[in-house]
Amino acid sequence: MIEISTDLIKAKKILENNDLVSIPTETVYGLAGNIYSETAIKKIFETKKRPLFNPLIVHIHDKEELVKIAIEIPEKAAKLASHFWPGSLTLVLKKNSAIPDIITAGKDTVAVRVPNHPLTLALLKSLPFPLAAPSANPFGSISPTTAQHVANYFQDDLSLVLDGGKCQNGIESTIIGFEDNKAVLYRLGSISIEDLEAVIGAIEIKNNDENTPNAPGMLSRHYAPKTKTILVNDVANEMPKFKGQRIGLLLFQPNDYLFPNTVTEILSETADLKEAMSNLYAAMHRLDKENLDLIIAEKFPNNNLGKSINDRLLRATKN
Ligand code: TXA
Ligand code: MG
Repeated sequence: MIEISTDLIKAKKILENNDLVSIPTETVYGLAGNIYSETAIKKIFETKKRPLFNPLIVHIHDKEELVKIAIEIPEKAAKLASHFWPGSLTLVLKKNSAIPDIITAGKDTVAVRVPNHPLTLALLKSLPFPLAAPSANPFGSISPTTAQHVANYFQDDLSLVLDGGKCQNGIESTIIGFEDNKAVLYRLGSISIEDLEAVIGAIEIKNNDENTPNAPGMLSRHYAPKTKTILVNDVANEMPKFKGQRIGLLLFQPNDYLFPNTVTEILSETADLKEAMSNLYAAMHRLDKENLDLIIAEKFPNNNLGKSINDRLLRATKN
């Protein structure tokens, strides 16, 4: 049986024992283990049913710890770290040889970030090792943004979820790497491209290149409900096509139409992108429990965080 609690001492003991704890972050809940423990790391892959070629993110409590994780840190990376950490930015850097190959799936680079959540920062500070933490969901499914989401997924496979409340940002971190000294975006996420470019200038986007899955943000089906989901430009246009079906609607903001026999999730009453982003996964979890025939999501304005939200919605629709 899984326990939901705020007991840091218990979390620390479990992690020191080579076992796993689900940890809160400002993006989504993670499934955490000691990066140096092969037992713990193998258990992460098994519990998530995640393929071993898919590398993990290392979580540290302070950017000063970075030297233990990575080498040859580009100037732009240092700038981004100073500006956005603690926060929802993951940097892909050349790996320090101390990082086990299983963490990086044999790559010579490592993904690392300082999460912005007081409980998890306190936990990381108290531990003599960093934590590897993928999102705490079975591979491909919707990421968890509450402790209860995690418990629903891993009732029998995990002993503790550290309860840090609802994740403030609500989608995964943005992932940036460096190729020939140029910044490259591998995964859209909860810091917008615009905000990153304001600090380091132009960033090349490789988020959608499905031929080179550097980050499985890139694999086609991801962040997906079990219910069939489609993404449309205009819900009012589409609804007549699905008469008689039980429909779930996922909308950015309130609209003027009333559709009978639908379950509607409004992500922001005031059309605020950040608010919508923080509500997105919880709304998807709820709709997925409604035994619907179809979920229809409406496209977001394709700028700033709307781009990141559209990316997740698009992946939820893939087969
Ligand atoms: O917000 C987040 O980043 C959350 C929280 C828990 O921190 N974690 C998360 O982890 O989303 P996960 O494992 O679900 O996604 C990690 C992503 C994957 O797309 C993986 O391929 C990519 O990071 N990644 C890890 N190491 C990489 C590397 N060396 N090069 C490129 N991508 C890498
Ligand atoms: Mg994930």
